[in-house]
Amino acid sequence: MDSFSTLLRTASHEQHVEAETSTFMSDLLGGRLGVAAYARYTEQLWFVYEALESGAERLADDPVAGPFVRPELFRLPSLERDLAHLRGADWRAELSALPATAAYADRVRECREQWPAGYVAHHYTRYLGDLSGGQIIRDRAERAWGFAREGDGVRFYTFEQIGNPAAFKREYRELLDAVRADELEKQRIVTECKRAFTLNTEVFRALGEEFPLTAA
Ligand code: HEM
Repeated sequence: MDSFSTLLRTASHEQHVEAETSTFMSDLLGGRLGVAAYARYTEQLWFVYEALESGAERLADDPVAGPFVRPELFRLPSLERDLAHLRGADWRAELSALPATAAYADRVRECREQWPAGYVAHHYTRYLGDLSGGQIIRDRAERAWGFAREGDGVRFYTFEQIGNPAAFKREYRELLDAVRADELEKQRIVTECKRAFTLNTEVFRALGEEFPLTAA
């Protein structure tokens, strides 16, 4: 039987392709959008990570979610530095969540507060993605908009406290494989992971509508 980490990856594969090839992501990574679109996307991520990370330390002793709460993953301080760079010192004043982002953040917060196993699904979907494809996004963003390598603007994608991402991801998958959940609860985590991908795709769709490519 496949390990739980393999099950999660396999179950979300199709939706991963969908997210990766969404119009907004393709346009953004294809260098067809300006830095304002990148800033707007970064702003949306702020709401998601605020929901994931504020109060997350309260889950540190939880038998299911506790092993996943690792401060070296926390992205909120990095996002805030990126936003200060992208939007200026008073970036907080104009922060606004798209409805799709608010729905995503609400669901993450709900899991964080009420369902630790659901929190694991959201944790996996974001952080393992950031450690993987996030590195491709960083590279493209540095080139497209001239950010310093791993510097302001792309700190979100730079895990300064993780020296060896491949080893970290291996250990992370071991944590998933050892998650304290029975088969039924594992199925629920898989379902929540798919929901997390859908929530991401909906944010991309909304961003795509806000930043359409005008026909040449
Ligand atoms: C253009 C955007 C994206 C690119 C280029 C990309 C690329 C990749 C690549 C190459 C991997 C495999 C890395 C490895 O096996 O070590 C990966 C894994 C992953 N990505 Fe993405 N990705 C993108 C968007 C996303 C999004 C939007 C999400 C969800 C929010 C996501 C979530 C994940 C997850 C959870 C994994 C880990 C899969 C696993 O091994 O269990 N990715 N991504």
